[in-house]
Amino acid sequence: MTQISPLQKARAAYQPKLPPVLTECGPFAAARTGEPTQSVADQAKIKELFPDTYGMPAVSFVKGKSFDAKPINVAVILSGGQAPGGHNVISGLFDGLKALNPKNNLFGFLGGPSGLIDDKYMVLDEKIIDSYRNTGGFDIICSGRTKLETTEQFEKVAANCKAHGITAIVIIGGDDSNTNACTLAQYMLTQKTGVQVIGCPKTIDGDLKNEWIEVSFGFDTATKVYSELIGNIMRDANSARKYWHFIKLMGRSASHIALECALQTHPNACIVSEEVEKNKTSLKELADSLTSLVVSRAQNKMKFGVVLIPEGLIEFVPEMKALISALNDLLAKNAAEFEAQPGNDAKADFISKLLKPENAETLAALPIAIRNQLLGDRDPHGNVQVSKIETEKLLIAMIEGRLAIINAAKDEKSIVKFSTQAHFFGYEGRCAAPSNFDADYCYSLGYTASALIGAGKTGYMASVRNISCPATEWEAGGIPLTMMMNMEHRHGKNVPVIRKALVELDGKPFQTFAANRDAWAAGVDFVYPGPIQYFGPAEVCDRATLTLALEHA
Ligand code: FBP
Repeated sequence: MTQISPLQKARAAYQPKLPPVLTECGPFAAARTGEPTQSVADQAKIKELFPDTYGMPAVSFVKGKSFDAKPINVAVILSGGQAPGGHNVISGLFDGLKALNPKNNLFGFLGGPSGLIDDKYMVLDEKIIDSYRNTGGFDIICSGRTKLETTEQFEKVAANCKAHGITAIVIIGGDDSNTNACTLAQYMLTQKTGVQVIGCPKTIDGDLKNEWIEVSFGFDTATKVYSELIGNIMRDANSARKYWHFIKLMGRSASHIALECALQTHPNACIVSEEVEKNKTSLKELADSLTSLVVSRAQNKMKFGVVLIPEGLIEFVPEMKALISALNDLLAKNAAEFEAQPGNDAKADFISKLLKPENAETLAALPIAIRNQLLGDRDPHGNVQVSKIETEKLLIAMIEGRLAIINAAKDEKSIVKFSTQAHFFGYEGRCAAPSNFDADYCYSLGYTASALIGAGKTGYMASVRNISCPATEWEAGGIPLTMMMNMEHRHGKNVPVIRKALVELDGKPFQTFAANRDAWAAGVDFVYPGPIQYFGPAEVCDRATLTLALEHA
């Protein structure tokens, strides 16, 4: 990096906060263990698959004395989608390891899990780490989505660790990557390699959370960036009063991001996928209700509005969910033949013949562009890449169709005008400079990972709790990865995976939204959050997300 921005320069000097126990004892805090734990479901099966890590107790760090930590080499990878604060996890890990023993080395494996398999790495030193402190992005060692799951891959990882004298691996990733971390930890124990595996909870999607992991890192910063952008658009909409803005927001499956942004900005509508699933709302019903909103606002002289749409919506609409699940299975089983079809129409014909009639009908009713997006590339986990499906445009087209019928019966003067703008906010927020919250939280997670390594733990995820309070009240510890696991049907097989945390409809964040949405729909109740502030009063710079505040109120 040759030139850095003035903000980056000022942020480089920011010293992230740590839970008090780590400030006081460093990574030498004592690991206090509690009762044996259980997986969230399917206990017998998870125990059978992870015999050596199942049931381990949760760990809380308490005051302890420093001990003689012999020098070790540790590997770290960034896995999956970028999330603000990844560099701080690595700098916290680095500082913790150096505090354990200045001779410790940190190997950053490049490009995600594939770096570990193919032995592509760089040794991270003070100079490199210093140039990435408090910055956004994952570019220090880059990320990737290779799924680390086969025995052959594990053998290569074990061999690479042996060659470099590496005795611990830290995997910074989401639910899929930490599922793989769990399997890798079990493999390393079965093979008696002596390599510890520790996970850190990452994803802007916010769906890796539970009692011990109060939020995954990156959610705070990303939702603040999106809320700033939404607020700017709202002000534009309210100034020009001529456009309806349909804004799709990232979040592969859960609607946490859309819900948090709605709480921050008060849009005229926000679809919550989990509610759609519960009420079995069809695409047609969604389009009908949004059309009614457009008509009623037009009657009140408001030919403008803002609608938030979660990226994962399409998979929660019952008829689309059935179609996507069937496509995931069929495309996994018939990949070669499907790929050999010449062109999109031939591919659609081929797959339609294999689908049940009701699913084939749903596919046929979609606009060609959306159909092709659904049949497009899968991610390495075999999932539809929902970020590539333009749900915002699909809904706009469906509303236009309905308004055309409504307007045909009206005279010129009472026609409902519907001029639209479609947006997708996702990549704009994933590499933003971490908010103070994420800078502190990520640094604490990395530092906690070093303490777990120092305490000899494996198969754990770093956990920093009580984070809706100021950092002076934060607690550090670790939870067994097996505790978050259950069995799920994925691509034709039952497999152990970390359970995704979806929006809870009886939880306070959704209930707060539900209590206000009618008023937001009818008026102009927009809130303009403005950009993330890094310097200034705590109530502006250090506030947590509304989701976190409401969940822990
Ligand atoms: P992770 O779950 O790996 O953190 O990724 C989250 C995410 O940002 C989703 O919100 C989005 O659907 C996806 O990544 C996009 O993936 P890609 O970066 O491969 O386009």
